[in-house]
Amino acid sequence: MSNVHFAPLADHVGVEALNIDLNAIDDTAFGALRQAVADHGVLFVRDQQLTPEQHIAFARRWGGIDVNNYFPANGGYPEIAEVRKSETQTTNIGGGWHTDHSYDQVPAMGSILLARETPPSGGDTLFAGMGAAFDSLSDGLKDTLRGLRAVHSADHIYSTGGIYAQTDQAADLKGHDIRTRAVHPVALRHPVTGRELLYVNPAFTLHFEGWTREESLPLLQYLYEVGMRPEFQCRVQWAPGSLAIWDNRSTWHFAMNDYHGHRRLMHRITISGEPLE
Ligand code: SIN
Repeated sequence: MSNVHFAPLADHVGVEALNIDLNAIDDTAFGALRQAVADHGVLFVRDQQLTPEQHIAFARRWGGIDVNNYFPANGGYPEIAEVRKSETQTTNIGGGWHTDHSYDQVPAMGSILLARETPPSGGDTLFAGMGAAFDSLSDGLKDTLRGLRAVHSADHIYSTGGIYAQTDQAADLKGHDIRTRAVHPVALRHPVTGRELLYVNPAFTLHFEGWTREESLPLLQYLYEVGMRPEFQCRVQWAPGSLAIWDNRSTWHFAMNDYHGHRRLMHRITISGEPLE
């Protein structure tokens, strides 16, 4: 039996594993962490001493690694994407509700984010639970969503004419010529727990398959308002050595941009997923 102790971060999403050293967990404890991510969407751990090699080794216990096409890599470690904002930049990465890699036809299972440098205050990350969001909908709307698929892309975010190209993050990002398009169910069954989830997100979902964007927007906007309700959220406050592992199928996240004039550097490794049908 695992002796990992957990404390919930909020009612519907997020849990913290207490007093553990990720460099020294056995397979039983690791199994408990895996189950915690499946059940709670986000697992938070404080005070880890992980070198880049140990970060990569820990990530490999979860599965394969998806190298991010857009973020700068950390030195000699292509597996580690840097999510960074300097003292002089005003735009951050991830400063809107999204789920990582939904623009891939086989989206990443999850991400492992390790804080390296944090501002004196601010720079928290909000997470939202898409199981609770789906549960809150009426039976009629749930049935409608079960019959829908949605088209996702990252082109409007990262391409030459995309959102980041107009900002002071442009010079750090790459992959402007990459084109992405994926189609996924709107109501998804979690591959581990079987729980139904809302799988659209404000950053990467373009429209419902077979519907125009204009037709899709009112319903998408309603679903986004539901997903953003404070009661479905938790908030993570970082310090160097804090680490979060989240499930991209069952959560959204939002990196707060409230620390201008200070550096924030996070190392992210993205874990491969499986087809969502
Ligand atoms: C991300 O969106 O993956 C990064 C989140 C963060 O920096 O808090």
